[in-house]
Amino acid sequence: MSLTSCHVHFSPHNDKVIHLSGSLLKSLNLSGKKNVQLKLGSESITAALKPIRKQGHHVYLSAGVRQTIRVPKTGSISVVQAAEGEVQLGPLVGILTDSGVRASNAPFGGRTGYIRQLIRAGESKAYIFAFTPRDINWQQGTVNGYFLNAQGSWYRKTAPLPDVVYNRLPSRRAEVSSPIINLRERFIRNKIPFFNWSFFNKSDVYKMLDKDVEALEHLPESVNHPKPEKIKEMLERHQFVYFKPTAGSLGIGIYRLTYHPNRGYFARYRQNGSNVLLRFTQFNSLMRMLQGRHGANLSQYVCQQGIRLIEIDGCPIDFRFHMHKNGKNEWVPVGIGAKKAGKGSVTTHIKNGGQLLTPDQALTQTFGSRSGEILEKAKKVSIKLCQAIERNFPHTLGELGLDIGIDKDGNIWMFEANAKPGRSIFGHPALRGQGRDSYSHIIEHCLYLARFKGRE
Ligand SMILES: Nc1ncnc2c1ncn2[C@@H]1O[C@H](COP(=O)(O)OP(=O)(O)O)[C@@H](O)[C@H]1O
Ligand SMILES: [Mg+2]
Repeated sequence: MSLTSCHVHFSPHNDKVIHLSGSLLKSLNLSGKKNVQLKLGSESITAALKPIRKQGHHVYLSAGVRQTIRVPKTGSISVVQAAEGEVQLGPLVGILTDSGVRASNAPFGGRTGYIRQLIRAGESKAYIFAFTPRDINWQQGTVNGYFLNAQGSWYRKTAPLPDVVYNRLPSRRAEVSSPIINLRERFIRNKIPFFNWSFFNKSDVYKMLDKDVEALEHLPESVNHPKPEKIKEMLERHQFVYFKPTAGSLGIGIYRLTYHPNRGYFARYRQNGSNVLLRFTQFNSLMRMLQGRHGANLSQYVCQQGIRLIEIDGCPIDFRFHMHKNGKNEWVPVGIGAKKAGKGSVTTHIKNGGQLLTPDQALTQTFGSRSGEILEKAKKVSIKLCQAIERNFPHTLGELGLDIGIDKDGNIWMFEANAKPGRSIFGHPALRGQGRDSYSHIIEHCLYLARFKGRE
């Protein structure tokens, strides 16, 4: 397999002909050949092959060729010899997303800026576009994609099915609907790598790691759909627990439940933008409050051992490890941010008064000169956790946002793994570079999955 880069030009010829410069012919093992099969995404065409005299790697595509395989633009791109007499341009990368609110300059609503940055990060290495589920035409095998021009404006263009799909569908609810389930399965049937498969539920992740000794060591004891007796027993054993909706995010619906042998039971949670603390003398009254607020939805909750996190000014701190595959299919922590909880808040979310810190700022107060060593240990654990999740998950992964806690003894704990992590940590001025690295890692993983990267 040979992989090289080339410069694509559009030639004025109408017949199906491709002109290649001598050095490109040679590096693709096509010297002397009369025909070539040229592919882009799911499209392919057999065309006459003609040499041209020109220094460097150049390819000239006639109108007949470029229209049939729907080459989106001229310029620099990769080309790989897929098989004898067969070459592939690309890769063609599709970002799958959607939005309820759309405008022509913001086709993905509030997500547009993010999609734009990702396309910008990838456009020198791939033909990259965004699309929604409605833009796919399975009969034709095409996608009506959103491309970005050099001025930063969006334009629509019909492309072949891509070589790889990065899934950023924003709605949990839509994602478990049958159209989206079918859509994912069709990509897989077409042998098009698709990552990440879907949002994770907390209970699925805990279940996945339940028998994985290496990961289990870093998972607080977690029970899905616990019976009241189980919650009571866990409270007595751990003094406090986190009671969380399995499909929740942003701290919504989370309770911190505490038990004091002499003072009774406490529930701390957030309601209408403020922090609430309730006290109950009887465990049953605590349960009645939870049942009153959530009813049958309590079956969608998990009860998790509370971890005594390191603190600054009495406010707990936790960490987001933004993990990526690195282009060689290995996990690496690309962005690490720390978050300090707002006063009296159950979680560290910025929305709930939390504050962003660098890991260094967060660790020094507790660990002093040992901070570096603790951070290195946490990085190793984060990699181990991603490997464990991947081992136990049947679909392709490339990016995970781990919520990591560190206790006062320096033990590392994982609270949840997010399959479509937010990017709020990259808003910290010291983490902007890591934010850019995060984009480039997504692109590198696309190149890897599309086989536009050397593999062992
Ligand atoms: N078992 C726990 N022990 C201590 N703190 C926890 C625990 N579980 C969650 N938290 C805190 O609450 C935050 C939110 O919990 P998380 O499981 O990430 O839910 P969400 O999906 O709402 O983000 C965590 O980032 C952490 O600060
Ligand atoms: Mg979280």
